[in-house]
Amino acid sequence: MIYLDNSATTYPKPLKVRQTCASAMQMSANPGRGGHALAMKASEEIFRARQTAADFFHCGKVENIVFTLNCTTALNTVLKGILHSGDHAVVSCMEHNAVMRPLEKLSQRGVSYTMAEVYPCDNDKTVDSFRKAINAKTKLILCTHASNVWGIKLPIERIAALAHEYGVLFGVDAAQTAGLVPIDVSKMDFLCTAGHKGLYGPMGTGMLIVSGDTIPDTLTEGGTGSNSMSFEQPSELPDRLESGTPNFSGIAGLRAGMEFVTSRKPENIAKHEFMLIKHLYKELSKLRQVKLYTVEPEPEYFVPILSFNVEGRDSEEVSAELNKHGIAVRAGLHCSPAAHKMMNTLETGAVRVSPSVFTRMNDMDYFLSVIRKLS
Ligand code: ALA
Repeated sequence: MIYLDNSATTYPKPLKVRQTCASAMQMSANPGRGGHALAMKASEEIFRARQTAADFFHCGKVENIVFTLNCTTALNTVLKGILHSGDHAVVSCMEHNAVMRPLEKLSQRGVSYTMAEVYPCDNDKTVDSFRKAINAKTKLILCTHASNVWGIKLPIERIAALAHEYGVLFGVDAAQTAGLVPIDVSKMDFLCTAGHKGLYGPMGTGMLIVSGDTIPDTLTEGGTGSNSMSFEQPSELPDRLESGTPNFSGIAGLRAGMEFVTSRKPENIAKHEFMLIKHLYKELSKLRQVKLYTVEPEPEYFVPILSFNVEGRDSEEVSAELNKHGIAVRAGLHCSPAAHKMMNTLETGAVRVSPSVFTRMNDMDYFLSVIRKLS
């Protein structure tokens, strides 16, 4: 199979990731829940994973790395743990439902929000629209680092500066950028990310990095293995936000994934994927029936993801045809109706191609030969 759906989850996972998950299974006593050798060994592995993540994202405090089930849980924790009745939030106009659905829920509890327009390749205008969206009640700006549909990147350093100018908290959804674009968490209050995309870890892993001084309220409470005498949730990180038995083998695999990305270097992975996507863009733009929605992606303004449509064909139908030829892509709305509304593709959806470090130029050429036939 030619797998071009790496924005949903990277596949295949590196061998070392699979091996690490398997060996973690063989020593999986409950980390932090016992003083016996097997539990202690598991605790050491969790600490090692936390340290690897802290180094990867330049986070000075290892304990501020919180392991979550996925990016969605991390985003829900920030949104629901920070925003209360009367508060206002600013998000971009191309957020995933992992942001929009919790926000809609919060709006039933008296939280308001504004979606700031994004102007592809015009960061001045984008930052200006975020500035205009801020009001006296704004407590949080939270935005995607890059759209999971269009690959459009937001100038998060500038938005962070804007948030801090207004004394507003700032969080980033880095589901599509972690592992590809260098991220320095010291510039933000919260970083939410998936572990199973550009970090090459297993599904069922994610992280919330609390970088500023504000710790979100809990989404869940429960056993942490610490301060067990008390019915109250510990106030310190990571225990405050990590209740219940963790996904031990997943976290160990995520550690191996981050080590893999570090060894390959995020900038080299991005360079490789951009080479593929730019080739795809150039060739698709020669086909009259193919509709592209952005300019040719450049690293300054995009991540290597390309979505398109074939005129007269439903995106799901194109995806099904590609599947018959052994090609995996994701079509439809990608859980991001806001991003589709921005490009007027709510009715049609789009066909999304997202490569990984393992995708080859031959894969792209085969993909193109099938699209040429289809169009
Ligand atoms: N959010 C993931 C995607 O974009 C699953 O496909």
